[in-house]
Amino acid sequence: METLSTVRQWRAVAQSARDAGRRVGLVATMGALHDGHASLVRRARENGDVVLLSAFVNPRQFSDPADLSRYPRTPERDEEFARASGVDFFVSPTLEEMWPDFPAATLTTVSVHELGDVLEGVGRPGHFDGVASVVAKLFAVTGPCRAYFGEKDFQQLVVVRRMVRDLAFDVEVVGCPIHRDADGVALSSRNARLSPAGRERARALYGALRAARDAGAPASERRALMTRLLGDADLEVAYAEVVDVDTLRAVRDDAHGPARALVAAFVEGVRLIDNVAIELETRS
Ligand code: PAF
Repeated sequence: METLSTVRQWRAVAQSARDAGRRVGLVATMGALHDGHASLVRRARENGDVVLLSAFVNPRQFSDPADLSRYPRTPERDEEFARASGVDFFVSPTLEEMWPDFPAATLTTVSVHELGDVLEGVGRPGHFDGVASVVAKLFAVTGPCRAYFGEKDFQQLVVVRRMVRDLAFDVEVVGCPIHRDADGVALSSRNARLSPAGRERARALYGALRAARDAGAPASERRALMTRLLGDADLEVAYAEVVDVDTLRAVRDDAHGPARALVAAFVEGVRLIDNVAIELETRS
């Protein structure tokens, strides 16, 4: 594995991979790597890609400075983890390389307005503008590639897909299944902040989602069921939604076909998110 820190080196290695007839597989992260990231790397390797993993804590996607300063930073561990996971190029760009004007405002922003303003966007204004802007930059530097994103951040995946479509990036976006621990809890760097009791309560997120998936009921009943189950587990619910997979708008009770159930809830002050695919049946 080679470690790079400048945009120039990063652009050059991606170009050499393409010149050698290889496909570049980009795994974009903010570091604090865990097995969920390793599963994205595995998927890229299974596809035969030259795997380039970027680790950059992007300040533009944090609206709360305290949240940004609390974000775990484990650069040495990340480098080792990436090496052991089979990454070819570990790219850890400096803030100066990514956003030379920061903390002054960067004049260019990519915004996927309506998709970024709902769900996670309600409590985190500007978050998805920050995500879309940095991902656009990662794509611009990497060039044509396959980019791997976890379905855990389902809204992010939908935002990125739409940006790629609207701006015609030569990037194939690959959505990868959520990686769960044996107890069903979706992997997240935030899980480390939970006590054993909090961890036990966190199981309610996936429990509520599975119940909604299997309920065979109209969307409004599935939402109510999730809210009730999360409340029963003493979780503070931010949202429990059933949405259209492309527009992220709440589906109506007469909708049928594929949809997504998403929840966000606080456990011991830690905000956790999770989601599952659901199929809404035609109702007579
Ligand atoms: O999912 C993340 O870790 C980040 O939002 C991403 C895609 C790396 C952009 O900073």
